[in-house]
Amino acid sequence: MDRKPLIAGNWKMNTDAASSAALAREVLQRTGRLRSVDVAVFPPFPLIPAVLRVLDGSAIGVGGQDLSAEAEGAFTGEVSATMLTSLGCGYVLVGHSERREYHLESDELVRRKVGRALDAGLVPIVCVGEKLAERDAGETFARVERQVRVGLDGLTAAQMARVVIAYEPVWAIGTGRTATPAQAEEVHEFIRNLLASMFGSDVAAATRILYGGSVKPGNARELMSQKDVDGALVGGASLSGEGFAAIAENAG
Ligand code: 13P
Repeated sequence: MDRKPLIAGNWKMNTDAASSAALAREVLQRTGRLRSVDVAVFPPFPLIPAVLRVLDGSAIGVGGQDLSAEAEGAFTGEVSATMLTSLGCGYVLVGHSERREYHLESDELVRRKVGRALDAGLVPIVCVGEKLAERDAGETFARVERQVRVGLDGLTAAQMARVVIAYEPVWAIGTGRTATPAQAEEVHEFIRNLLASMFGSDVAAATRILYGGSVKPGNARELMSQKDVDGALVGGASLSGEGFAAIAENAG
């Protein structure tokens, strides 16, 4: 099964009106011609229109870093799935570990957000991953299994065909401490087997599972050469157009 790699840049709470557009222009210049890999960027909400203006008509996708589990109404500060699609977004991150940690997002809430994203026509990138204490306690697979089972509970195979998963071990995010390719692959393979048991082997074989956590130009190729690693969700290194493009070039 050939899965086209996806390289996603999560800008987190970085850039402003001017620098987001400048970064988007650089990403376009440096990755716009790549055809063997999908590329998408995830700017902060208010900067999405500025980035879309730059990337309009290109193959580079744009997405939100989160979305509300509610459709609309009195939810101050929240951003809905249809707001994102009405701007022209195609993707959304769901359940990033920083949302889980600082905003106490549960697996059940993640499931509701995945439903909203799919109903609106967005591709959800569902983030899972264990904390260091969980890894040290030998609980990595149990933790990831619960995140996948609950976060994707009850989706049809057709819905699941539009979902992307990102495995991001929390201890590797922003720490410079990357999982070894073997550590990444063993969890990716576990997730794919779990998806096969939940949705069937065809869906599992077609689902893209990205790795995230201190991905850099220097380690991207080896990580993405693993059998079940289908791209990267890049944080810090996506803030440099040059670094992000170098990662994308290593994925094709
Ligand atoms: P870093 O690449 O900065 O470790 O961040 C990873 C991440 O959280 C992407 O969503």
